[in-house]
Amino acid sequence: MRILVTGGAGFIGSHLAEAYLAAGHDVAVVDNLATGRRSNVPREAKLYEVDLHARELERIFKEFAPEVVNHHAAQASVKVGNADPVHDLEVNGGGTARLIQLAVANGVRKVIYASSGGTVYGEPESLPVTEEHAIAPRSNYGTSKYVGELYVQLAARTAGIEYTVFRYGNAYGPRQDPHGEAGVIAIFTGLMLNGDQCTIDGDGEQKKDYIYVGDIASANVAALTAGNGLVANIGTGDGITVNHIYRTLSEAIGNTVEPRFGPPRPGDVRNFWLDCSRAKAALGWAPAVTFEDGVARTVASYR
Ligand SMILES: NC(=O)c1ccc[n+]([C@@H]2O[C@H](COP(=O)([O-])OP(=O)(O)OC[C@H]3O[C@@H](n4cnc5c(N)ncnc54)[C@H](O)[C@@H]3O)[C@@H](O)[C@H]2O)c1
Repeated sequence: MRILVTGGAGFIGSHLAEAYLAAGHDVAVVDNLATGRRSNVPREAKLYEVDLHARELERIFKEFAPEVVNHHAAQASVKVGNADPVHDLEVNGGGTARLIQLAVANGVRKVIYASSGGTVYGEPESLPVTEEHAIAPRSNYGTSKYVGELYVQLAARTAGIEYTVFRYGNAYGPRQDPHGEAGVIAIFTGLMLNGDQCTIDGDGEQKKDYIYVGDIASANVAALTAGNGLVANIGTGDGITVNHIYRTLSEAIGNTVEPRFGPPRPGDVRNFWLDCSRAKAALGWAPAVTFEDGVARTVASYR
């Protein structure tokens, strides 16, 4: 299969490119390197260093002629989205609309879209959060990611394109940026390996659903041949506290520096974990990597 991975120079997208290549597919990457890196792109994948809004994207669709478009390029920061809502919407809403338009015009069979389980539902009314939960984002980023879902589904209704929408929990694993504002596992790993002190927001008892990036990749491989019309959460179905993350990482790294406790993050959802039974039923997918194993792999890659 010829698969165009947008955002393939980023954290999650680069793992997808790798997994697709390993499964024997042809992969091309579209990425403007806003946060991604050329070195993340596997050698066997062609990198088109272009913006989602660039004219050149039309030529790329003609030249590579993808059968599947896997759309992971995004303005992926909640903080940036709140500081600059117009830019956030231009990339995540407008960029997705443009990509879908080109996919339809060029006979793409299927679009796979990365949405955000941690932000589109807002403050959970009940746990675990199912896909039936109200859409009530509390950030510009959560709103623009949901707008992208709407464009994907619009193309299915009006042009018959196949789609799968994934709403991820908190992804972690190799190649996540340790200097970013999100991704507590990457940030703590970077600090601990430097012998620096970590700051835990609030009391550290907030619980989120952390999903290993390799498990996200396997869901995206399954979606090549199954899950048409599916909107599905992708997580572990369980929450882990920041204090537990801190202890697990400290053990894996041999860290002895005590953490500092800071103020809670304003507007942060305290507890969320995702019901992932829909993905299991539709794709036969389940996370295969335990938290301890995922942490060990992550630490090994940062060393
Ligand atoms: N990391 C998570 O926990 C998480 C959770 C839920 C959803 N997601 C979604 O998964 C996707 C990947 O996230 P990530 O964590 O790997 O982030 P990332 O920042 O590492 O990857 C995003 C990639 O998109 C590229 N990009 C940004 N704007 C672009 C543009 N205008 N044109 C072309 N390329 C552009 C960046 O250079 C980067 O390589 C995003 O769509 C994000 O919303 C991530």
